[in-house]
Amino acid sequence: MPEKRKILVIGGGGREHALAQRLARSASVGGVWVCPGNAGTEGPAAEGRASVANVSGEALEVARSLRPDLVVVGPEAPLCDGLADRLAAEDIPCFGPTRAAARLEGSKVFMKRFAERHGLPTARAVVVDDPSQLEPALAQFEQPPVVKADGLCAGKGVIVASSPQQARSAALDMLRGEAFGSAGARVLLEERLEGFEVSVHAVCDGERVLVLPAAQDHKRIGEGDTGPNTGGMGTFAPTPRVDDAWLLRVRDELILPTVRGMADEGTPFRGVLFAGLMVPRDGAPRLLEFNVRFGDPETQVLTAVADGDFAELLCSAAGGRLAADSVWCSTRHAVCVVLAAAGYPGPVRAGDAIFGLGAAAGLEGVEVFHAGTRREAGSVVTSGGRVLGVTGVGATLAQAQARAYEGVDCIRFEGMQLRRDIAARALCAR
Ligand SMILES: Nc1ncnc2c1ncn2[C@@H]1O[C@H](COP(=O)(O)OP(=O)(O)O)[C@@H](O)[C@H]1O
Ligand SMILES: [Mg+2]
Repeated sequence: MPEKRKILVIGGGGREHALAQRLARSASVGGVWVCPGNAGTEGPAAEGRASVANVSGEALEVARSLRPDLVVVGPEAPLCDGLADRLAAEDIPCFGPTRAAARLEGSKVFMKRFAERHGLPTARAVVVDDPSQLEPALAQFEQPPVVKADGLCAGKGVIVASSPQQARSAALDMLRGEAFGSAGARVLLEERLEGFEVSVHAVCDGERVLVLPAAQDHKRIGEGDTGPNTGGMGTFAPTPRVDDAWLLRVRDELILPTVRGMADEGTPFRGVLFAGLMVPRDGAPRLLEFNVRFGDPETQVLTAVADGDFAELLCSAAGGRLAADSVWCSTRHAVCVVLAAAGYPGPVRAGDAIFGLGAAAGLEGVEVFHAGTRREAGSVVTSGGRVLGVTGVGATLAQAQARAYEGVDCIRFEGMQLRRDIAARALCAR
């Protein structure tokens, strides 16, 4: 038997906890390290799983000393910053795109121009890089456009304006560097699309792709999709609102042309290509954005519905020889409910004790993924905006939802916020 794999996961959120747990369940894995991790990614190994442990330090330094068989990069910022390139220079295999390929997420202007070059279905947009160009650009839209800062803004750089005046002032704040610094130095004005949103993830090796089941996120803080946008308050997969034929269409019209286009332009894409799509009434998928890494909290449901050897999938993709049959879609459904701290998505208080974690994790079909948590004097306390993601898994979407909320109802901490309507609309629409 060949030696088992050592895997290093970079990041410390719910996505990284879910990835680490899923990788630890892979038969080919001997150990998983998470840098920096959180309170959920340390502790004794569960039966039949590889151990998961936290490591601290700078990602490249940690990779150098650990010499893992694979580094899986969770968040977008280190990828856009060239971590995959630096690992490649030291012959350390990395699942995640190069800096050049990560521009699909790191620059919304790059993404839009790429989409235009390759005929991808997306919203019409105009680029503005100086306040003097703003009025003529605004005049090209009959309805108030969506305003997007070019660079990474941690999910806060998009304003869906309800009036031309709001679009104007949002764009000016960005262009003057007041809203997002250099990330807002260029701005996109984009035609507003109507419909519902779907997240499609594809694991890519530079040439071939494996499309994972379609998921749906809930971005607003409040029930019924009200209040400000967040990093995501809950997800479910697969969504019954699209079918397999639709997913193939996304693969053929969006994912494959993108992977081919990136290869043709000399910047092949290896890693997860995560398409944020709008589905209008006619069902034709329209690209809102690309992300170049797993979604958070999409990962907390995708890892629960995909069977097989996840480590083999990611290692083979990183090596440019995708083993697409190493992972397949189960018949299970999963729902993840995010528990957020008081004040989120604004500034939050940290250090509140969290109760009931053991009881929730002990329920059948429930997994609790940590995000903003840390250990303090033997107990687990809050340390971020999104604190936990409680995933319920079941034979039906309704059962998965019921289990997720059973798990949620075991847990409490001061000021805990959650939405009670995760997956509710999909269940009604059936
Ligand atoms: N063209 C558009 N029409 C309607 N809504 C949009 C459009 N573009 C973005 N949005 C909304 O804004 C959200 C954030 O935009 P997105 O492009 O995904 O940027 P980011 O995730 O980087 O903040 C989307 O999930 C969607 O709800
Ligand atoms: Mg988005």
